[in-house]
Amino acid sequence: MLEADELAEAVQMILQTVPLLQGKKVLLTAGPTFEAIDAVRGISNRSSGKMGYAIAQAAAEAGAIVTLISGPVCLTPPAVNQFIAVVGAEDMLRAVQAEIAQADIFISVAAVADYRAAQLSQQKIKKSAGKLLLELVPTVDILETVANLPKPPFCVGFAAETENLEENAAIKRRKKNVPLVVANLAQDAIGSDESELILLDGAGKHVLPKASKIEQARRLIKHIHLLYNLPNKKE
Ligand code: CTP
Repeated sequence: MLEADELAEAVQMILQTVPLLQGKKVLLTAGPTFEAIDAVRGISNRSSGKMGYAIAQAAAEAGAIVTLISGPVCLTPPAVNQFIAVVGAEDMLRAVQAEIAQADIFISVAAVADYRAAQLSQQKIKKSAGKLLLELVPTVDILETVANLPKPPFCVGFAAETENLEENAAIKRRKKNVPLVVANLAQDAIGSDESELILLDGAGKHVLPKASKIEQARRLIKHIHLLYNLPNKKE
């Protein structure tokens, strides 16, 4: 029979040695997408990929089998099981669709372009004196598509906002039908090595005070682990 303090120590040992997401398959998207307009130009979103890469690293540290699908960034990929480089939103969607059936958890960190050029010009568009009108068509919302599959993995969305952070993030959580949304202010987070995050789930709001992105990523993985293990994960 163990004494109370020995028992506490044993529990502590177990908690330390069993990684939180041991064997779970985690699929992540990260970075921006780049939507070509012609042979040399395109439109994109401002995203360094740092948060997504940090979360991929934290998930791997937590014992998960990690697939990272990344748009174009200037970062060295973390040590994950599979790394897939993509360029446009359509490539990212295809890569996600090819992997999603195996995923237990989908974390959608990518700043996916909401629009792409209606027509892709194979040649460089030449400059002229007048205005140039560019027709854009919407891209598919990857997170919403995944979250509304008949048997979706546990889905985590991000909301990068410039104003009305919590309100807009809560709207996204409901609209995209995901149990957890991670909200941050775009102007504070883009390119920075630190961030302040607000997690919105069925229980309400949890603030992760400003810290390095890897520290935030580890905190987020702990929160995902807690929610993932709830009996009703949608709540
Ligand atoms: N997302 C996605 N596919 C898209 C657009 C967004 O998977 N085509 C995901 C992002 O990865 C993120 C979440 O949806 O997890 C919210 O993305 P965000 O850019 O903040 O919002 P949007 O839904 O694009 O709405 P808006 O641009 O109007 O804020």
